[in-house]
Amino acid sequence: MSKAIADQLNTLIADFTVFYQKMRHYHWNVKGENFYMLHEKFEEMYTEIGDVIDELAERVVGLESIPLHTLGHMLETASIEEDGELPKPATMIARVVGDVEFLTQKLLASITTAEEADDRTTVNLLDEIHDSLEGHLWMLKAWQAK
Ligand SMILES: [Fe+2]
Repeated sequence: MSKAIADQLNTLIADFTVFYQKMRHYHWNVKGENFYMLHEKFEEMYTEIGDVIDELAERVVGLESIPLHTLGHMLETASIEEDGELPKPATMIARVVGDVEFLTQKLLASITTAEEADDRTTVNLLDEIHDSLEGHLWMLKAWQAK
C-alpha cells in the first residue's frame, strides 16, 4: 500500500513541478497595471510550491520509494499542462485558478487513499498543502470578481 501512496505522491510531484514552472513564467512575463501585485503573488506561490515539492519528495523517500527526479518524467506524468504562451493577466489568473482547483481535487483524492491506508504522516502533509491552496484559491477568485 505504501508503494501505491508513493506512486500517487509522485504524480503530485509531477503536477506541482509543472505548476511551479508556470508560476515562474508568469512572475517573469506578467505585464500591465497589476504588474507589481501579480509579480509578487506568483513569486509567493512558486516559493511555497518549491517547498511543497521538496516535502512530497521526501515523503516518497520516507515510504521507501524513489521520487520522480527528471523533468522528462515529470512532463510525462503530469496532468497539468505547460503554458508556452504569453497570456494577459486575467488569462493567467484563470489558468492558475483552473490548475489550483485541479490540484486541490487531486490532493483530496490522495488524502482519502492515505486515510484508508492509515498513513497519518501523509494525510497530515497533504492536508496542510490542501489548506494552503484553498487560501490561494479564495484570493485568486476574489481578484477575478471585479
Ligand atoms: Fe524575481
